Amino acid sequence: MIKEKRKTFPGLIITLLICFTACKDISSDSKQEETIAEEDKIIQYSDRFSYLLEYSVDSLAFPRSADDNGIIKKVPSKDWTSGFFPGTLWKIYQLTGDTKYKAKAKEWTTFIEKEKYNDRTHDMGFKVFCSFGNGFKITNNAAYKDIIIESAQTLSTRYNTTVGSIRSWDFNKEEWQFPVIIDNMMNLELLFEASNYSKDTTYYNMANQHARTTLKNHFRDNNSSFHVVDYDTITGDIRAKVTHQGFRNESSWARGQAWGLYGYAMAYRYTNNVEFLEQSKKIAAFLMDHNNLPEDAIPYWDFDAPNIPSEPRDASAAAVIASGMLELYEYTKDKKHLEFADKIITSLSSKKYVIQKESNVPFILSHSTGNWPKNDEINGPINYADYYFLEAVLRRKNLR
Ligand code: GLY
Repeated sequence: MIKEKRKTFPGLIITLLICFTACKDISSDSKQEETIAEEDKIIQYSDRFSYLLEYSVDSLAFPRSADDNGIIKKVPSKDWTSGFFPGTLWKIYQLTGDTKYKAKAKEWTTFIEKEKYNDRTHDMGFKVFCSFGNGFKITNNAAYKDIIIESAQTLSTRYNTTVGSIRSWDFNKEEWQFPVIIDNMMNLELLFEASNYSKDTTYYNMANQHARTTLKNHFRDNNSSFHVVDYDTITGDIRAKVTHQGFRNESSWARGQAWGLYGYAMAYRYTNNVEFLEQSKKIAAFLMDHNNLPEDAIPYWDFDAPNIPSEPRDASAAAVIASGMLELYEYTKDKKHLEFADKIITSLSSKKYVIQKESNVPFILSHSTGNWPKNDEINGPINYADYYFLEAVLRRKNLR
C-alpha cells in the first residue's frame, strides 16, 4: 500500500538545510520563498491518480492521449490502446489498495469484452491482457479467464505455419503480404497464459515459434531491430525489412527496441529458452551503451532521429524499457539492469515528466511520442506510458 509522500526524507533534509542557511542571511529570504514556491508546484505521480478515477466513464471512449491544449483523444475498444486505461487503473489499485480504483478498473475492463472476437488485428494482448489479464490476476474471476482463452483462440487464427508467425497488420495490402512487427512480441503473453489456463498447448507453440522466427529475422548485427518484416505467404520467405513508425528502414525506433527487450524477457519466463534471455540481454546492452541515449535515460523517439538533441523524447519507450529491464534483472541479477531501470523510474518520476497539477487530463506522464512519421501524438501524454511506468514501479516495489 503506497501513498507517495509529498516530501521524501532526503527532500526534508534539503529543505531544512536551505532554511538554516536562509535564516543566517536575511537577504536570501525572497530567494528562499521562490525556491519553496517552485517546489510546491511539483506534483508526485501518485497525485495524478485521482484524475484517472474521476474521468467520466464511456464504454465507447477510452482516453488514449492528449494534445498540447489538453484535448483528449478518445478511442473505441477496437483501438490497440484501449486496454491500457483499465490496466492502469488495476495497477493503481495494486499500488494503493484503494477499492475505488478496483471498481473503476472493472467497469472499464467490461467494455473490452467484445474484442475477444475481433480477428482483424494482432493487438489482442495489448487490449485484452492489459485489461482482463490484470483483472484476472487480481480478482481470480473465472469469467475473465474464459475471455482470455477465447481471445487467444481468435488471435491464433492469424498464425501462419509456413511463416511461423502471427500476422500483425491487415492494412497496406498493396505493399505487404504478411507484415510482422517487433511490437507483436508483446501479444505473446496472452497466448502463453491462455495455454496455462486452458492446458491447450497450441497457443504456447504458436507463441514460442513466433518468438523464434522474430529472433531469426528481425535483428541486425548490433542487436537493434527492424520494425516490420514482410513475409511471402506461400514460401515464407522474407520480402522486405522496413519501418512504419521509425525514422527510416535502417534506424532504431525507440519503442520498437523497448518492445523487443521486454518481449524476449517475457518469452524467457514462459519457455526457459536461453536464446530468448540472451536476446533480451543484448538489446539491453544496445540501449544502455547507445551514444544517443540522453543523460536521464529517456530516449529520443528514434535512436537515429536526424536532429538529436533537438528531437522529442519517448517516455513510453522508457517506461517499457524500465519494466522489461526489471524482469530481465530477475533472471540475470546483473546490477547494471537494476540500476538502469532505477534511473528511468527516477527520471520519469521527476517534474519534467509527471504532468503538473494545472492539467486536468486522465494521464500521469507527458513526453511520449506515438507516431512521428505521421506527426501524430508527439511529445505528450499517452496511456501506454502510464501503464508500463506503473508496472515498472510495482515490479520495483516487489523486488524490494
Ligand atoms: N504497437 C504500436 C506502437 O507501439 O505504437
